[in-house]
Amino acid sequence: MKGIVCKVCSYVAINEIVPEQCPVCGAKSFIEKDDALKTSADKAEKGETEKKHIPDIKIHKACGLIPDACNDVHVKIGEILHPMLTEHNIQHVDLYANREFISRVMFTPDRLNPVASIHLKSGFSGKLAAVELCNVHGLWFNEVDF
Ligand SMILES: [Fe+2]
Repeated sequence: MKGIVCKVCSYVAINEIVPEQCPVCGAKSFIEKDDALKTSADKAEKGETEKKHIPDIKIHKACGLIPDACNDVHVKIGEILHPMLTEHNIQHVDLYANREFISRVMFTPDRLNPVASIHLKSGFSGKLAAVELCNVHGLWFNEVDF
């Protein structure tokens, strides 16, 4: 899948608009790539590599912290949990609402599982997307309807 990738921090603009500056690191240097992101559509049948990398996005409409104004979004990498080893790990998950960047969750491999949670204000409708970066296998994308 096409994307505009920050040369510094691997943020990907998925709306096909080159940002003035990277919303994550502030850099102003991007590269447009036709194959920036791997998706489930890249292979007709999901193999183990796909199952370990495609972000699994789950929406929980009832939040335990802000019950009347929040929806929880949980992202797990992936359907088969990805390893978190020094030599092979998930570095970050970026989240997008209607293809606009909203958050990055970063990981260190020693103590963290490759799972991210965000608290989205109530009232959103549309599509939620997640992009994850594996230090060995690159950038992977998934998107769901909210
Ligand atoms: Fe990997």
